[in-house]
Parts: sequence; structure tokens; C-alpha cells
Amino acid sequence: MKHYSLVAAVLTAIAFASSAEAEDTDPNVEAGKTVYKKDCRGCHGPTAKGLASFPKLVGHPADYLVDKLTRYRAGERLGPNTPLMAPRAQKLSDDDIVNIAHFIASLN
Ligand code: HEC
Repeated sequence: MKHYSLVAAVLTAIAFASSAEAEDTDPNVEAGKTVYKKDCRGCHGPTAKGLASFPKLVGHPADYLVDKLTRYRAGERLGPNTPLMAPRAQKLSDDDIVNIAHFIASLN
């Protein structure tokens, strides 16, 4: 009996550890940087300072960026050039959005 409860305790611990990982929403700045360099830098610039008519992103808190990206992804029109931006946001997962927002905020 003692043996079985030890096995159950170990299985519970494993299940708990993996579900904690699945729900991990801590921002990963390095992962955000990787996506930013690949999908965003071309328009917003290497340090997110903006380029020509592409808006500057640095200077905003992460929450602001998460809000904007979530709204672009949902198809909301936020400015005159939303059609240029929306398709980029549609490719992002929730994790991508949080990670990128924290990467950009880390440049402030
Ligand atoms: C094809 C060029 C282009 C690419 C690539 C692009 N953006 Fe944009 N982005 C824009 C334009 C243009 C706007 C302004 C859109 C508008 O008028 O609503 C914008 C707006 C934004 C805004 C809102 C800024 C504000 O202050 O309201 C955020 C945040 C943003 N982009 C983040 C990103 C991220 C993150 C990526 C990469 C996943 C990305 N963009 C890729 C062109 C681009």
C-alpha cells in the first residue's frame, strides 16, 4: 500500500510539473527577439524605432503592445495602415505576442 501511494505521489508531481509548464505565460524575451527579427524588423526597424511610415514601437509598456497586437490579430482596424500590419499579427500565438511585447519593452 505504501508503495502504491508513493507511485501516486510521483505521478501527481509529474502531472503537476507538466501542466505548470503548459500554462507558463512568463514572457520569454529571447524568444520574442527571435520572432521580432524574423517577422517585424523589416518594417519597424532593428531597434523598433520605426522606419518611414512604420510606427515606432519602443517607448510603450508591454501591456500596450499586447493590447494592440491582440486587436490587430482579431481583425480590428486601428489606424490608416492596418491592412499592412494585421496579416503579421494574425500569424502570432498568445505566447508570441507576450514574448515580443516584452522584448520591445526591454529596449526602452
Ligand atoms: C509590412 C510592414 C509591417 C510588418 C512586417 C510589421 N508591422 Fe507592425 N505596423 C505596421 C504598420 C504600417 C502599422 C500601423 C498600422 C495602422 O495604421 O493601424 C503597424 C503597427 C504596429 C503596432 C501598433 C503601434 C502603435 O503604437 O499603435 C504594433 C505594436 C506593431 N505594429 C507590432 C508589430 C510586430 C510585433 C510585428 C512582427 C510580428 C510587426 N508589427 C510587423 C507595419 C508592419
